[in-house]
Amino acid sequence: MKYFIVTYGCQMNVHESEKIAGILEKLGYESGKSREDADIIVFNTCAIREGAEDRVLGNIGNLKKLKKKNKNLIIAVVGCMTQKQQTAEYLLRTFPFIDIVIGTFNLSNLGYYIDAVKKGRQLELWEEGDIDETLPYKRTSGENAWVNIMQGCNNFCSYCIVPYVRGREKSRKEENILNEIKEIVKENKYKKITLLGQNVNSYGKDLNPAIPFSKLLHDICAIEGDFKLSFMTSHPKDLTDDVIDAIASEDKIEKFIHLPAQSGNNRILKMMNRNYTREKYLEIIKKIREKIPNCRITSDFIVGFPTETEEEFNDTYSLVEEVRYDSIFAFMYSPREGTVASKMEGQVPQKIKNERVNKLLKLEKRLQKEYKN
Ligand code: 5AD
Ligand code: SF4
Repeated sequence: MKYFIVTYGCQMNVHESEKIAGILEKLGYESGKSREDADIIVFNTCAIREGAEDRVLGNIGNLKKLKKKNKNLIIAVVGCMTQKQQTAEYLLRTFPFIDIVIGTFNLSNLGYYIDAVKKGRQLELWEEGDIDETLPYKRTSGENAWVNIMQGCNNFCSYCIVPYVRGREKSRKEENILNEIKEIVKENKYKKITLLGQNVNSYGKDLNPAIPFSKLLHDICAIEGDFKLSFMTSHPKDLTDDVIDAIASEDKIEKFIHLPAQSGNNRILKMMNRNYTREKYLEIIKKIREKIPNCRITSDFIVGFPTETEEEFNDTYSLVEEVRYDSIFAFMYSPREGTVASKMEGQVPQKIKNERVNKLLKLEKRLQKEYKN
């Protein structure tokens, strides 16, 4: 029996697909080479932008043929898209050949759903649960081992669906993280360990007693062995000096920070509910450059946020020029149902979003060229 997993979206999902693979292998499935080859196909979906959802929908549609050929094929759709009840119901209505639809909190029950699938379709998804520490992983990312340190997000940036589909921040116990990393190091297969969380800088605030993220970093670095450590994603409002100091002082930590600015304009930042200003962001960048001279810095930007004017976009443009990032990701704002920004007036026309995103990407190319020379 073979499985095939199709993963969309961020590193968190890539890692969660390793968990899905672990569960399936425990059930006796082996990794298949293609969809045609599989007895179970799992779509691990992303909901961050409309484009991501459209890609999922298009590809699920294509599975109908396979299901016709192989009646016993099990098709499961999991992840951020299916955590939204409306989308889950839409999926089942539109694609009746889907067997299993579960959200982000019930992944650990996948085995149970596969068992039950013969008795009828399952749809049970929205309860928040605890992180299941006992689930096996099948690590598939080469020399890099992902380690999840927390779930969810409390920030409610006004454009973002993540807090709705991943729930509130929940940190894993430090002891469990350290044990997982000791096991990884013992295996001697991985050169790099990457800690994952939507907002890693607020790691440990919800633990009792609370522990700072920098302590976790130092404690991991104290584990004997030859490995490099990195982490993502950092939120500028929570990136404290002790974390910058940890990156500077620990040889094991990669000199790299992904620090999404999202916009360079204070009015837009405020509307995005980001809780920092352009000036504050630049101060943090200055601090990083002073304390960690060769630090690579990358960022995400959203263009065409509701009511964003050309001048306000120019502030984003000038921020990118000023910081001279190693690379950036630029996204066109995509309204997500249920978020505060999706209800705002003054949505920006698609054509203008296109123009702005192209301007940023062109700028990035120019800066990278200058960088290399
Ligand atoms: N529209 C466009 N981009 C978004 N991002 C998050 N939500 C949206 C949205 N609704 C971007 C942000 C974030 C990255 C992972 O995706 O830049 O940092
Ligand atoms: Fe979304 Fe903001 Fe949380 Fe990042 S910090 S996941 S952008 S709400």
